[in-house]
Amino acid sequence: MEIIRTVEWMKQVARDARSKERLVGLVPTMGALHDGHFSLVRTAKKECSPVIVSIFVNPKQFGAGEDLEKYPRRMEQDCAALEALGVDYVFAPSAAEVYPAGFRTAVTVEGLSDRLEGRSRLGHFRGVTTVVLKLFQIVQPHFAYFGRKDAQQVRIIRQMAADLNLDAQIVTCPIVREPDGLALSSRNAYLSAGERRAATVLFRALDAMKKAIERGERNAAELAAEMRRIFDSEPSAAVDYVEIVDADSFEPVVFVRGSCLALVAAFLGTTRLIDNALIEVSADSVSVTL
Ligand code: PAJ
Repeated sequence: MEIIRTVEWMKQVARDARSKERLVGLVPTMGALHDGHFSLVRTAKKECSPVIVSIFVNPKQFGAGEDLEKYPRRMEQDCAALEALGVDYVFAPSAAEVYPAGFRTAVTVEGLSDRLEGRSRLGHFRGVTTVVLKLFQIVQPHFAYFGRKDAQQVRIIRQMAADLNLDAQIVTCPIVREPDGLALSSRNAYLSAGERRAATVLFRALDAMKKAIERGERNAAELAAEMRRIFDSEPSAAVDYVEIVDADSFEPVVFVRGSCLALVAAFLGTTRLIDNALIEVSADSVSVTL
């Protein structure tokens, strides 16, 4: 496994692979890797060679007062794990390499970027789409892998790829969870023991919503109220939002039908966690995937 630090070298390596008609797979990450990230890598390994994992804590997607400085950085440990998984290249540029002095461009997916996560974290998605477009330009992957854990992020990246005629095929991978349901996240490392226990409230709320759907409930306000009842029973969690939206438009729905997403965000102490469930309702079937 080779660790690449410069944009020029990364471009050349990727260009070389493409010219040999190899399928290039990209897994963008911010490091502090866990099984959620590794699941994307494993999926990429099945479909692509070479697989390139980027590790870059992107300053542009952190707001003022967010956790940029304390975001966990574990480069050595991450690289050892990626090497064991058979990753070919790690692209780990510095911030100055990605955003040299004088950098002035940003890409924004209008509308979709302003709701939910975008409303709570101003400028966040603009930072995400800017860095992901740059990674796509540098690597020009055939396939790029993202987790449904960040459902709004994938929706926005898909929109960017369509709007800007990008060649990368966006692949969405399932959410990897702890045995008690908590979605894996690099930010789980911030939780105290008590907060960690309470953090399952996001999963429990989504699971209660799932059971209500299985009982036949289709009214989004009722389903959201069911989730809020679970949050209310966990005093150490402060809800940021609980919403049920159309999976395509990300606009709130009145009734769940077609593909919808139930999205939740909550603070455990100062740590902000998100989770979601995919709801698929048709005339003769219903499924809720946590
Ligand atoms: P990061 O939070 O490191 O996540 C990298 C990728 O791993 C994302 O696609 C995310 O959805 C996925 N992921 C994280 N936890 C997961 C879980 N429990 N199950 C499945 N997938 C999971 O998301 C980012 O970094 C950044 O915004 C990035 C896209 C790299 C741009 O900077």
